[in-house]
Amino acid sequence: MGRTIVEAISAKIDDHDVNPLGGVRSSYRGPRAQISKNRELPWWRRILPVIAAHKISFSVAVSLSLVSLIFQTLVPRMLIKATEDAVKRHSASLHQEVIQILIVGVLAGITGVISRQYLFYTAYNVEADLRSLMYEHLAWLSFSFYDRVQSGQLISRSNSDIRSVQMYSTFAPLILVQCSAGVLAFGFMLSINWRLALVAMVVMPFLYVVGVRMRQMLFPISWVTQARLAEVATIVDENVNGVRVVKSFAQEEAEINRLADAAEKVAWSYVKDAEIRARFTPLVQNLPQLGLALVLLFGGYMVIYGHMSVATIIGFNLYLLMLQAPFMMMGQLIMMGQRAKASAERIFEVLDESSEIVERPGAFDLNDVTGAITFDNVHFAYGDGPPILQGFNARIEPGETVAIVGRTGSGKSTVARLLNRFYDIDSGSISIDEHDVRNVTLSSLRETVGVVLDEPFLFSVSIRENIAYGRPSASIEEVTAAALAANADEFIVKLPEGYDTVVGERGYTLSGGQRQRIAIARTLLVNPPVLILDDATSAIDVHVEAGIYEALRALLSHRTTLVIAHRISTIALASRVILLEDGVAVATGTHDELLASTPLYAQVLAQTTSEDR
Ligand SMILES: Nc1ncnc2c1ncn2[C@@H]1O[C@H](COP(=O)(O)OP(=O)(O)OP(=O)(O)O)[C@@H](O)[C@H]1O
Ligand SMILES: [Mg+2]
Repeated sequence: MGRTIVEAISAKIDDHDVNPLGGVRSSYRGPRAQISKNRELPWWRRILPVIAAHKISFSVAVSLSLVSLIFQTLVPRMLIKATEDAVKRHSASLHQEVIQILIVGVLAGITGVISRQYLFYTAYNVEADLRSLMYEHLAWLSFSFYDRVQSGQLISRSNSDIRSVQMYSTFAPLILVQCSAGVLAFGFMLSINWRLALVAMVVMPFLYVVGVRMRQMLFPISWVTQARLAEVATIVDENVNGVRVVKSFAQEEAEINRLADAAEKVAWSYVKDAEIRARFTPLVQNLPQLGLALVLLFGGYMVIYGHMSVATIIGFNLYLLMLQAPFMMMGQLIMMGQRAKASAERIFEVLDESSEIVERPGAFDLNDVTGAITFDNVHFAYGDGPPILQGFNARIEPGETVAIVGRTGSGKSTVARLLNRFYDIDSGSISIDEHDVRNVTLSSLRETVGVVLDEPFLFSVSIRENIAYGRPSASIEEVTAAALAANADEFIVKLPEGYDTVVGERGYTLSGGQRQRIAIARTLLVNPPVLILDDATSAIDVHVEAGIYEALRALLSHRTTLVIAHRISTIALASRVILLEDGVAVATGTHDELLASTPLYAQVLAQTTSEDR
């Protein structure tokens, strides 16, 4: 049964959003508005533009809800009048009034339903807009930002924080509308009998105080609960992602205990929460009854002494019930407001973060690249960290294959990251075909420089889609050609579903070497004029690796290739080696030349390389 539902749903999704490649087609149009950039404004003023973008549906929701509440407040009044009339006339001609009351009641119901629909429509659209704002911003932020933050933090900010801001900003106005209906009800009560109205109101301040007290006590507990739930989530997440480490160190028992501890803490805070609720609920529920009893008591006297009709008391009590809801909700509104403020600030922290890597005005596209690369006196440090490159100079000719060799941590990967501007250098210049990388558009730069990293990240989609990631429109022939060049085709065709095999999260169903080959094919498909392989073949069999380089050479003789590797066999594939030490290029030449001329080279090789055969 479960399977059929899943199948039905996926069939439905397939029906709608699939492109020829099998991926989900994006119907994303982006958020309708941005938050205000002015950091001085109070948080809700900054969010306002996002809500204002939905002002039509929002105003419909609020005004219909007001109409519905007005209808609702009319009902008790009509009831009083109808009952009084009937009692006075002692006749059975009630049906007209009953019909009127019914009509008003039905109208109140219908407007209520429509208003709710519009409200939810607005609320979820506001939420979607906030989420797109967040994701769009996250997509633009530079690597330096991701170096600093934890992904768990970002996930909670783009989920629960956005939800709490959305809830408050769409429901607060509605609660205010309810309060105004409460004022209306109170007005009716005053007009019917002001003394009784005041008596009825006696319990309201108590109800308010109790509500506020209850939430004051619940609020810290709910924060603690949230934090502890996040802790459990983190442990589960680590255990799922790190299951190989956990198992290889036989730490299952310890992890289970860690999880049990965290779960116990969650249970404790839930129990505390329930205790507080249990203590306050009888009060919250029975105070209103006291109000009703007081109305009955005093109203009863008035009826006995002929100052009031029985019907009035009934109507009165109906109004009283109507008043209680806003009083109880006011407290909730305050709590929601506090939480929304905290959440909004957490969201702003991300949205106010500006990307360090931005295009200069007048940036141009890098076209028809021959692939000449120049590093000129490059100085670089990560943030305020120690200097990594200190006057790095290198020139790589078009079509050359150059290996960068250096001790671990010497900055080889950093050189690669600087070339396609994952980070900006502190001084000096890096240019491709004599164009400074800071003067060209980011998209053309990254199309020009293809990087294959040592830890290839694969998406949970088919192998074909993974390879076509940079060019989703590529035909299956092109995908196969790229896979052939990366020596990946031979194992892909042996998989049960070939190119349509969906790889697990992070591609764990494949071996390290297989993943690397798919990552290489993915970059080759884009056909970048400059290729950087950063330890990209470290997990691949030496013979297969040689095949890949042969294919690369045959396929694309004009490609400039930068190889960072730890294997002598890989380094030997390069026509020239650059030796990196203490942030500068200390020597360059062929492998054999360096071996002969530079003792440091042999030393570094001895430390860092492995002799695979
Ligand atoms: N994102 C980062 N933020 C701060 N420091 C970093 C960052 N990435 C690397 N570093 C530091 O910069 C130095 C150079 O790192 P890099 O990754 O370039 O070394 P590498 O030569 O590629 O080493 P390996 O051979 O181990 O891959 C290291 O000391 C490292 O600690
Ligand atoms: Mg590295």
